[in-house]
Amino acid sequence: MGIFHVKTEIYSGVEVQKVLEKENLKKIIIITDHLMVTLGLVKIIEKALNNLKIKYDIFDDVEVDPSLESIKKGLKKVMDFSPDKIIALGGGSSIDTAKAIYYFMRNSGKEIPIIAIPTTSGTGSEVTSYAVVTDKKKKVKIPIKDENMIPEKAILDPEFTKTLPKGVIADGGIDALTHAIESYTCTSANFYTQTFALTAIVGIFKNLLKMYNDVGDKDARIEMGKASCMAGIAFDRSGLGINHSIAHILGGRFHKSHGRSNGVVLPFIIKFNSSDKETAKRYWEISKRLGLPSKTVEQGAKSLAIAVEILNKGLEIPSCVKEMGIDEESYKKLIPLMAKSALEDICTQGNLKKVSLEDMKKILNEIY
Ligand SMILES: [Fe+2]
Repeated sequence: MGIFHVKTEIYSGVEVQKVLEKENLKKIIIITDHLMVTLGLVKIIEKALNNLKIKYDIFDDVEVDPSLESIKKGLKKVMDFSPDKIIALGGGSSIDTAKAIYYFMRNSGKEIPIIAIPTTSGTGSEVTSYAVVTDKKKKVKIPIKDENMIPEKAILDPEFTKTLPKGVIADGGIDALTHAIESYTCTSANFYTQTFALTAIVGIFKNLLKMYNDVGDKDARIEMGKASCMAGIAFDRSGLGINHSIAHILGGRFHKSHGRSNGVVLPFIIKFNSSDKETAKRYWEISKRLGLPSKTVEQGAKSLAIAVEILNKGLEIPSCVKEMGIDEESYKKLIPLMAKSALEDICTQGNLKKVSLEDMKKILNEIY
């Protein structure tokens, strides 16, 4: 496997205006949500656009789990305004909405490049080829994957993450860590994706708690921006594993935050996967790089699970599903169904250790 490319131009620690002034833009549309308007983050972009005398319009109706309806609304607005480029400002939902709009526009013959400005450090959506759309009628999430949706530019400006609430920092950061660890250990990992993943893991362990405890720490915000972006590049090229399969189920069934679900499950999955020789070896490599006790492969793999448990504690992430406030009876009843869906999840095929339906049931029991 020798093919690797990154499509997105990444500007980290660079102000928006500095990036925009290099381009000859006449019209821009900003895709975002109401919260970004309230927090004054849209104003920062508006100021830059006004300074550069670029005409703009704003679509601020992005939903938390973007539905087809809201994407259609955004699509219409973009079509009517016909901008040179789209600025997607926000967390995964805003960037995914912009990507889905791009996807549908492209199908009708028009391409408008995306400049993604993430306001969280987690999803990596600014560099990935995925967008998740929710069909509210059928109550299903539809993942769209298309290389063409990868944003043209990503601006990782710490100005946009300085007001992040603690819970969002924790959930986003642990999601990024899960991306990096699963990418490093999955079936399609290669030298390039592993290099990105490992650097991301080191960056997250160094900076996530710092940012969580003091969002005013600009350096920590810059480093987390880089790390989550690198984790995004890694998993977009390699895929993920069963940690994400299970998080998708918890998110879909119980409406739990995607990142938080990943964090709760991660130590359990590391322990489960450690019985596979090759996966354990890769956990050991990660532990060595982190400077954790790793005299033997076994010790290294164990150390990584413990390090994640300690990180979770520091981030006030629950240590099991029960602590997430999910009712035992309804959870246990759903285990057979959830095990089946988790097994069928697209991420499961990326897991190096092969997983049976029985394994999945056991894991779902254990994480409770
Ligand atoms: Fe994720």
